[in-house]
Amino acid sequence: MSDLRPIGPPKSQEFDDLYFSADDGLAESKFVFLDGNNLPENWLEAERFVICETGFGTGLNFLSAWKLFEETTKPHQSLDFISFEKYPLEAEKIGLYLKPWRDFFDGRLQQLVAQYPPGIPGFHRIVLNERVTLTLIFDDVNEAIPKLIADVDAWFLDGFRPATNPDMWSDTVIENMARLSHKGTRLATFTAAGKVRRGLIAAGFSIEKVPGFGRKRDMTAGYFPGDSA
Ligand SMILES: C[S@@+](CC[C@H](N)C(=O)[O-])C[C@H]1O[C@@H](n2cnc3c(N)ncnc32)[C@H](O)[C@@H]1O
Repeated sequence: MSDLRPIGPPKSQEFDDLYFSADDGLAESKFVFLDGNNLPENWLEAERFVICETGFGTGLNFLSAWKLFEETTKPHQSLDFISFEKYPLEAEKIGLYLKPWRDFFDGRLQQLVAQYPPGIPGFHRIVLNERVTLTLIFDDVNEAIPKLIADVDAWFLDGFRPATNPDMWSDTVIENMARLSHKGTRLATFTAAGKVRRGLIAAGFSIEKVPGFGRKRDMTAGYFPGDSA
């Protein structure tokens, strides 16, 4: 039988970075990605709300969004969550890393683990229920994002620090974000790196530096003010 004791946030050796805050990953996810995208307010009137994330990792951000969506919306509304991941974790590891919040997620973590696909490259569409769909794209975001067709309402940019993982913040990613956005599409990310902010502004986003989570002084939030193309 496997050992299911909590083992703290996973750390990437390759990028020398944690997947989420060691202080409180769940609070960080809410602060940076949900509050940073003005959720739940922004989806209250949406029939269908589309979130796109760079870096699925353990799925903590997805689970936080899924739970909040079901708690704050009406039965006719649906959530489409799309996430890129080049180095998929195994389902069992996800269950282990997120074990501290298993009760909080109220069955959703177990369901994600049960339906999580094998790490085969490509698009994996996972229907969680009649209202919530997760599309996992197991590929380098730079290869996959130009192929994506979607009308994104909110971006979760969570791809490790730009200094150690510049590929997640490339011009290709940012230009395709603008292509997939519409007037009022929002974005949020933990980083306040000037290069990222300048790239987003050059692609047409309105960007603000706002207070960060915990010990982080700043993060970035913004929105797309016009139609792309
Ligand atoms: C900070 S972690 C994401 C944490 C995640 N959102 C969560 O809730 O656990 C960053 C993720 O980006 C992935 N990643 C790094 N470089 C990538 C790339 N070029 N394309 C796609 N995914 C990448 C990593 O494997 C890692 O899972």
